Amino acid sequence: MNPPNVLSETVPTVYEQMVSRGVSRREFMKFCAWMGAYLGLEGSAVAQIAKAIESKRRIPVIWLHFQECTCCSESFLRSSHPIVADILLDKISLDYTETLQAAAGFQSEEILADLVKNHKGEYLMLVEGSVPLGADGAYCVIAGKSALDTVREVAAGAKAIIAWGNCASAGCVQAANPNPTTAMPISAILKDRTIVNVQGCPPIAEVMAGVLVHLLTFDRIPQLDALGRPKAFYSRRVHDTCYRRPNYDAGLFVETFDDDNAKKGYCLYKVGCRGPSTYNSCGVIRWNNGTSYPIQSGHPCIGCSEAKFWDNGPFYQRLTNFPGFGIEATADKIGLTVGGVTAAAALTHAVLTNVRKRGTIGEQPGEDNRKLDPAPTAAGEPKKP
Ligand code: SF4
Ligand code: SF4
Ligand code: F3S
Repeated sequence: MNPPNVLSETVPTVYEQMVSRGVSRREFMKFCAWMGAYLGLEGSAVAQIAKAIESKRRIPVIWLHFQECTCCSESFLRSSHPIVADILLDKISLDYTETLQAAAGFQSEEILADLVKNHKGEYLMLVEGSVPLGADGAYCVIAGKSALDTVREVAAGAKAIIAWGNCASAGCVQAANPNPTTAMPISAILKDRTIVNVQGCPPIAEVMAGVLVHLLTFDRIPQLDALGRPKAFYSRRVHDTCYRRPNYDAGLFVETFDDDNAKKGYCLYKVGCRGPSTYNSCGVIRWNNGTSYPIQSGHPCIGCSEAKFWDNGPFYQRLTNFPGFGIEATADKIGLTVGGVTAAAALTHAVLTNVRKRGTIGEQPGEDNRKLDPAPTAAGEPKKP
């Protein structure tokens, strides 16, 4: 069984599909403006996004699943925005995904083999889950092939590679100490390729959609930070956009989850919040169509978009030693000196924060024009950038 010719002229564009599903021009333009804003683009880019979605045909996509819980897929599929959840998935022509495809067994493996063989340099490779290296890869074998072999084989012809979530970006819980399967992120296996790490456990659906829209519109990967995360979504700490931040600055903290301060919505730092060292868009985009995010529901941020967050101490204890931050002293100082000294302490904190943040984000001049990975050579190997 062969997959459909995804690049055929007869395949409708995304926009044609949207219209056929009853999406109005107004709704379409709102979606483009919304994506442009999330991506931090200028107003003029909205027209570019619209043109790309109107004119470009579907990109063939291989979505691989390895050691994971599948909630990255869940997050994307359950986006409450109809265009993200429904039409965009059609747009990217999800040709192979073990979780959602109707085909099974030999049929699905034939589809994968055909895509890899006949669409070199054209397809996107999306990976959910970490790859185990232990026991010669025996901890994760699909169709008789280890995850490691599949990653290498599919990556050889991939136009671009996206690692969805903490599992594929950093190993997540499987890689937590003692990492019994020697779980590795995709970037540790494909060292000569640029991997877009869309972090989070899971990532926010709108962030996943934004990365795909960027690829589709500009035919190149978005700007990345030093950890491979798209800067548009991961350049600010959760702490920087937290609506509870005025409480932090004023020294008003929840001490236990059932105290009066919790009811008043005070800062969650002392019950373990990792917002000060976590880079993500939760405070801006939020979840479920902008309804809420962990901190808004009274739970501290556990740092799910950072590497090794499972090993970073007990979740509900404030960390006395935040690597690279030293925020504890600042928080206690603020708590003890509400009043005139508070402003100075907060200012010190802000200055320290910005200095540290620059180091953590790792601005990389010149990375802005990073193109998609070059098409593979005739031998099937990607060219070195
Ligand atoms: Fe599940 Fe988190 Fe891994 Fe995504 S990153 S598959 S949500 S464990
Ligand atoms: Fe918000 Fe957590 Fe920062 Fe407090 S420590 S302001 S709850 S991100
Ligand atoms: Fe994760 Fe923290 Fe956001 S736990 S979902 S990065 S608030």
